[in-house]
Amino acid sequence: MIMEEYKKIIQNYLQSLFDEYKSHPSYSSYSSKIWDSMRYTTLLDAKRIRAIMCLELGKIFKIEEDILYPLSSSIEIMHAYSLIHDDMPCMDNDDLRRGKPSNHKVFGEAIALLAGDGLICFGAQILIDKLKDKLDPKVLLEIISDYHSCAGATGLIAGQVADMEAQNKKTDIENLKYIHNYKTASLFNYSVKIVSKVALNRNIINENEYKKLEQFSLNFGLLFQIYDDIIDYTLSDKELGKTAHKDLEADKLTYVSAYGLEEAKNIFNSLKNESYDILNEIRIKSEIFDEIFHLLDRRVN
Ligand code: IPE
Ligand code: IPE
Ligand code: MG
Ligand code: MG
Ligand code: MG
Repeated sequence: MIMEEYKKIIQNYLQSLFDEYKSHPSYSSYSSKIWDSMRYTTLLDAKRIRAIMCLELGKIFKIEEDILYPLSSSIEIMHAYSLIHDDMPCMDNDDLRRGKPSNHKVFGEAIALLAGDGLICFGAQILIDKLKDKLDPKVLLEIISDYHSCAGATGLIAGQVADMEAQNKKTDIENLKYIHNYKTASLFNYSVKIVSKVALNRNIINENEYKKLEQFSLNFGLLFQIYDDIIDYTLSDKELGKTAHKDLEADKLTYVSAYGLEEAKNIFNSLKNESYDILNEIRIKSEIFDEIFHLLDRRVN
């Protein structure tokens, strides 16, 4: 399996979920716009890194696909919500996302706002509808709690608020770490944690391995946002699929603004090695993870 194959699986599964909900009684010409809007950003071509990590770990742990697909789709649905809101004029005001006009440019601000809200609920609904007969109820409840904790003000919203508040403010490393850990690492943490919980519950991994996986996810999440800060500064609109130099323009607190480009790259590289070491410690060898590291590395270095 390579990343491209996983991407196709995720894409097809997400598409089937949206198709399925077309038969819901609420679906009508009065409201179909909301589903078009939710579907638009979620199904645009994307890297799917978080969902791929979840699927690949699940494959290593020998967890069934009918459990892994809903888990990984909840990640991408939550991610899409965060991107739609992040691009709105009241936040980062970006007209371009995944190489196409941002959600609010296509559907207007009111629908984009509602589409984000709709997606948060949709992701949780999928977890419940698709997994209620397949997972130990205690594990499912924990996953649903993790979903809300990650999507809400204890997770990525906390980071997004801190990100907005730090605009035009002086360099503050503690603040910077807080922003990155919450706005970005929390979703990587969710992606790894949900599949690891299923494995832990089945004694496929032990407590120590579970803790190491959590540590990996947080480390990787921070690394990923540093990667994003770097490429915002170094790549073009076309290469990014979103508007370049947005952070500089908005005077955001990023690893590039705080440390300069070269030091940000050094931090990226040392976090990359640390992340790799954690996976090695628990003997996770995966060509998919190698491919993910390589993808980020190629764009940064
Ligand atoms: C963008 O995430 C948001 C960040 C946390 C930096 P990705 O770079 O994974 O975006 P997609 O999903 O591939 O579009
Ligand atoms: C990403 O932060 C965090 C989110 C929750 C979307 P950014 O604002 O840097 O993400 P991009 O660069 O717009 O994808
Ligand atoms: Mg932002
Ligand atoms: Mg943004
Ligand atoms: Mg960015």
